[in-house]
Amino acid sequence: MGHRISNRDIMLDDLDDLFQGEKADCLYSDPPWGLGNLKYWRTMNGQKGVNVEWIAFLERIKFLYQRHVKGPLFLETGVRFQGDLEGVFGKSDAVYTVIYNTKLPNMVMCWGAVPRQSPEGTSGIQTPYTVLSTYGTIPNSIFDCCVGLGIVAKTCKKLGATCYANELNPKRMAVTQKILPFETV
Ligand SMILES: C[S@@+](CC[C@H](N)C(=O)[O-])C[C@H]1O[C@@H](n2cnc3c(N)ncnc32)[C@H](O)[C@@H]1O
Repeated sequence: MGHRISNRDIMLDDLDDLFQGEKADCLYSDPPWGLGNLKYWRTMNGQKGVNVEWIAFLERIKFLYQRHVKGPLFLETGVRFQGDLEGVFGKSDAVYTVIYNTKLPNMVMCWGAVPRQSPEGTSGIQTPYTVLSTYGTIPNSIFDCCVGLGIVAKTCKKLGATCYANELNPKRMAVTQKILPFETV
């Protein structure tokens, strides 16, 4: 299986051509954090003022997870959004607090698997790498529906896993495209 990437809005696209009938071993993503951050990323994509809905956004991630993934789910989010995510995805099996910097405490929430090693205190690629290399057998494939500048693509490279990546913003996707030999769909 080769790495694939697409430039789609997950509110509008089911990403079927990214998977071509395959399923990823897990989903790991750092999607937008809350309504304000959703709007911020739309503005960054030249879509200032477009209507966005926070819970509907989480429901779309859940839909894509159920459609394209056969194993566990890992999401990074800000600490104040734990309740919102559990409202949509159900009670998490583990929650780890990670600090990017003093202003932005965030967490990794896990459903369907618990990493043997805690990512607490890690940053950058080390956070997904710790989770994804210790939750079970090393995943053969990882899906990130909001891949941004590609931390999960870098993690796939380090793990030797196939990357299924999607990103709304073409400029951010272009950065990630340089990390792995992606087929763009
Ligand atoms: C917190 S950033 C991801 C950071 C990422 N871990 C990285 O390595 O850069 C969230 C990403 O979600 C993307 N995004 C926001 N809304 C989206 C949507 N509707 N569909 C797909 N991607 C979206 C943003 O453009 C942004 O790149």
